[in-house]
Parts: sequence; C-alpha cells; structure tokens
Amino acid sequence: MSSSGKHQEQHDVYHNVVWHCSSITQSDRIKQKNQKPVVLWFTGLSGSGKSSIANAVEVRLFQQGKHSYLLDGDNIRHGLNKDLSFNDTDRVENIRRIGEVARLFVDSGLIVLTAFISPFATERQQVRALFPETQFLEIYIDTPLTVCEARDPKSLYKKARTGVIKNFTGIDSEYQPPLHPEIHIKTEKKSIEACAEEIIEKLQQLGYLEGE
Ligand code: ADX
Repeated sequence: MSSSGKHQEQHDVYHNVVWHCSSITQSDRIKQKNQKPVVLWFTGLSGSGKSSIANAVEVRLFQQGKHSYLLDGDNIRHGLNKDLSFNDTDRVENIRRIGEVARLFVDSGLIVLTAFISPFATERQQVRALFPETQFLEIYIDTPLTVCEARDPKSLYKKARTGVIKNFTGIDSEYQPPLHPEIHIKTEKKSIEACAEEIIEKLQQLGYLEGE
C-alpha cells in the first residue's frame, strides 16, 4: 500500500474509534488507594543502576503500604516490545509505548517506576507531556560512562567496543542527559540502598508519600 493510502486507512480507523469513559475515575481510585499516583521515570546509561535502584525504591514503597508497579527495560523488551531493536526509530517507539502503558497504570492509581535508558530528551519530554505536571517525576541516575563500562554487569560494553553490538548507548549511540530532572542521583560513591533512600527522602519532601 502507498504511504498516503496507509495514512488514509489510519485516519479512517481513528475516525471510527471513540474514547470510552469509565464510570470509575482516577480520583475514585486515588481515594480507594489513599495515595498519590505518579510516574517515577528513571533514566541513565546501561549499567548506571536504574533497575537496581528502582527495585530498592519499590521495596520501600511496598513496605509503606503503597501500591506500585515497576516497568523495566530488559523485561519489557522480552514481551511487549520484543519486536523493537536499538536503532533510533525503535528506541523512540519503545519509549512511546512505555509512556502509554505508564499512563494507564497511573490512571489506575498506581505509583509506576520505569527503568529505561530513554536516551533522547525529546521522547522523555513527549512522555512527560502525557501527564499532569504533578504526576511525572524524572529521576536521573547519573553514573559516568567510565564507571558503567568498568562495571559492565552484562559484558555488553565489551561487545560494543569490539563491534559485536552496534548502536550501543554511550559508545556509538547518543545519551542526552536530562537538564532539569526533578531528582538527580549521583551514584558513583554511593550504595544502591543509599541512592534508594535519597529518592524516598525526596519523595517525602515533595509530599508524594502522604495519603491522598
Ligand atoms: S532504550 O534506549 O530503548 O530506552 P532500554 O532501556 O529499553 O533502552 O533497554 C536497554 C537494555 O538493553 C540495556 O540495559 C542492555 O541490557 C540492553 N541492550 C542491548 N543492546 C543494547 C544497545 N545497543 N544499547 C543499549 N542497551 C542495549
């Protein structure tokens, strides 16, 4: 099909789809759960500690009786996004889908933690734009490339340096650090637990851990 034919078909499909409003709203779910739903959007290089720190934060939230869910890059790429590669176009689509999934989860009243490299500032901004200002917090897991590469937990940097893996973030694919993240964690001299504690303290200060 020509690209204009495809666009016309997409237009017809959207034209015939009407948004269905549920009787139960986000504010009903907020009251039921007695918590403030929000996305905690972790971004950082591969090996920076995003998944481990997000996991440690979620444990603390759970212990406080919060209802949460962690969406993790490596896991999502085994299922929902297993059709996507690491070229720029597919990374953009990866983040777009996760943004939409996170939006549904936040609508359901959950605290959603996402751990994706999400290397491009524009795509992170597009996800942010899906949420009211108070329901999206960007958390920059700031670990220098040299440290990530020295850790190399999955031996992926080694493969990237020898050309076995192409388009590897920080090596031959760009990472654009957030300029104004709500939370900025420098991990180099801290344990995972200390980083998680810092994030919980910040969430407390910002009023996210009180009841609704
Ligand atoms: S993103 O750039 O599209 O946000 P995502 O967070 O989903 O990336 O996946 C990153 C994980 O995939 C890394 O932690 C690493 O384990 C693995 N991976 C495999 N190939 C690459 C690559 N070329 N660049 C970065 N990460 C890769």
